[in-house]
Order: sequence, then C-alpha cells, then structure tokens
Amino acid sequence: MMDKLWMAPQGLHIEPAESGDAATLARLHEQGFYRGWPVADFVSFLGERNTPAYIACDARRRIAGFALIRAVADEAELLTIAVDPKWRGKGVGRALLEAVFADLMLSPAKRMFLEVDEQNHAAIALYKRLGFVTISSRKGYYARPDGSAATALVMARDLG
Ligand SMILES: CC(C)(COP(=O)(O)OP(=O)(O)OC[C@H]1O[C@@H](n2cnc3c(N)ncnc32)[C@H](O)[C@@H]1OP(=O)(O)O)[C@@H](O)C(=O)NCCC(=O)NCCS
Repeated sequence: MMDKLWMAPQGLHIEPAESGDAATLARLHEQGFYRGWPVADFVSFLGERNTPAYIACDARRRIAGFALIRAVADEAELLTIAVDPKWRGKGVGRALLEAVFADLMLSPAKRMFLEVDEQNHAAIALYKRLGFVTISSRKGYYARPDGSAATALVMARDLG
C-alpha cells in the first residue's frame, strides 16, 4: 500500500506519525507550551485510530514539527500543533494543517475546531490565514506561569 505523504517547504514532507515518535513529539510539544504532556499521553494518542498525528520531517525522518488531531464522526479537533523553534516562520505549521485538511477530506469530518490562548498571536495568525474563525471564548481556560488565567478562543473551519 502507498503510504500517505504530502509536500512541505524547505525540503521537508508530511507523513503520518508512528508510535515510535511519541518521545520526540512530547519533547517538541514541551518546547512550544508552558505545560508539557507526558510521553505516555502521546503513546496512547498514537495508538488510537481516532487521534492521528502528522509529522513534518526530512528524508532521514528528522522531525521539525507535528500536528495531533482527534476525529470523531463529523467533527475534528486540533489537539495540538508545535514546530521546533528553529523551524518556525518557514511555512511548516501551515503545511502540517494543509496536510491534515487533505487527509480529513477522506473522512466523515465536516468541521474542525480548536482552542488557542487569546495571546498566542503566531498561532491565531496561522489559523486565520487558513480560514478558521473565532466562534466563542472561554475565560480562565489556561493557567499562565505567573498563576494568572488566560482566555481561550474557540475557532472553527469547515472542511471540504
Ligand atoms: C504556532 C506555530 C505552530 C506556527 O508554526 P510555523 O511553522 O512557525 O508557522 P508558518 O511558518 O507555517 O506560518 C504560517 C502563517 O502563520 C502566521 N504566523 C506564523 N508565525 C507567526 C508569528 N510569529 N507572527 C505572526 N504571524 C505568524 C503567518 O500569517 C504565516 O502566514 P504567511 O506564511 O503567509 O506569512 C509555531 O509558532 C509554534 O510551534 N508555536 C508554539 C506552539 C503553539 O503555540 N502551538 C499552537 C497552540 S494552539
């Protein structure tokens, strides 16, 4: 069977993550967020059919970034996306999301949702660029390092 593969900038490509990528994804995620997720969480996500991850990597499979989604019936959720700090601003995040949209075209998912800290300007710019619109906000959703609570925006985009 032909494996799934999508083009990405900078000589990278996008492909589905495998269970052996859990530790690398946990490390990348930790670099992108104040609170990391345990490797065990990534092991279980990667072992479940409805929570696939996609990696941006080079020909030697060195990983520059990833996106993790949950797809249930006609809804999909972006659980997280993170790009290695030295690879940011080069179109990797955009390529990851475009690969996710392309793959979801083959699924029953009709709409995609995500939550983002309202102060995460880079992520919000990326999501708006790709057609997400803010549908609501949730106060006190994220804890900040200084103990204050951040508001999350809920954004959505139609698929297909
Ligand atoms: C958010 C993140 C995934 C973006 O990945 P990236 O590979 O740097 O993004 P891209 O280079 O593909 O940028 C795509 C678009 O997003 C926007 N964007 C990305 N970074 C930006 C920044 N720092 N400032 C403003 N806009 C930005 C731009 O509009 C860009 O469009 P353009 O190519 O037309 O200029 C990355 O910054 C990251 O890993 N951050 C830490 C983790 C995180 O916050 N994840 C999202 C949580 S919900």
